[in-house]
Amino acid sequence: MGREPQKIQGVPRHIGIIMDGNGRWAKQRGLPRTAGHKVGADTFQKITNYCAKIGVEVLTVYAFSTENWARPKEEVDTIMDLLRSYLKNSFKQTRKDIIVRFIGDRAPLAEDIRRMMADAEARTRDSKGMILNVAVNYGGRAEIVMAARELAQQAVNGELSPESITEELFSGELYTAGQPDPDLIIRPSGEHRISNFLTWQCAYSEFVDMNVLWPDFKEKHLDAAIEEFKSRDRRFGGI
Ligand code: FPP
Repeated sequence: MGREPQKIQGVPRHIGIIMDGNGRWAKQRGLPRTAGHKVGADTFQKITNYCAKIGVEVLTVYAFSTENWARPKEEVDTIMDLLRSYLKNSFKQTRKDIIVRFIGDRAPLAEDIRRMMADAEARTRDSKGMILNVAVNYGGRAEIVMAARELAQQAVNGELSPESITEELFSGELYTAGQPDPDLIIRPSGEHRISNFLTWQCAYSEFVDMNVLWPDFKEKHLDAAIEEFKSRDRRFGGI
């Protein structure tokens, strides 16, 4: 039996955001691209607090993809420094009840960043508020390969039979294990791509792209995206 078409009510449980347009925002003002990332980091803090306030259960933001290493060193260094500064000051600017998680492969990250990430996760693990997944060195395909390797290893060890691999079991090996899939994915800056973001988890997400650059993104833009989301019928493959 298929699921009933579901008219959406209330705020989405899980929102994903591709924080795009920082470079263009800076270029429009004759500033270096790094200036766009700095303002983008402030937007990130504001929108995180707003999502927690309106009752979103999980927010996932794309801060740095596996492909972003190809950018000029100065730009990569700036994004990593913004991450450092967020990790050092996070508890001053974001709400105290947020559970912070980092998704992506941490191995290539600087040691101090990895340590601060682990500290932030440990400190917020028992909080009662929204889960904030910050995607750093994240790629959706790499995440799927990671899960496949883990299950293959379990099969080789004789702990798992291939027939017992289900979608649920597979989901349980992803960084987002135990979390609902994103209901809504927002991409500012007028681009229409998913760009390797939550590749497995986005199977039934509603996608809203918006004509605003991330540094200019305000609470009202999030409200508008949620209104657009609510106007849609989610059918999950049914009719
Ligand atoms: C995409 O815009 C944005 C990024 C690759 C970096 C996003 C990072 C931040 C918002 C700040 C750091 C985050 C944290 C968690 C502190 P783009 O540079 O591709 O923009 P463009 O398409 O206009 O060039």
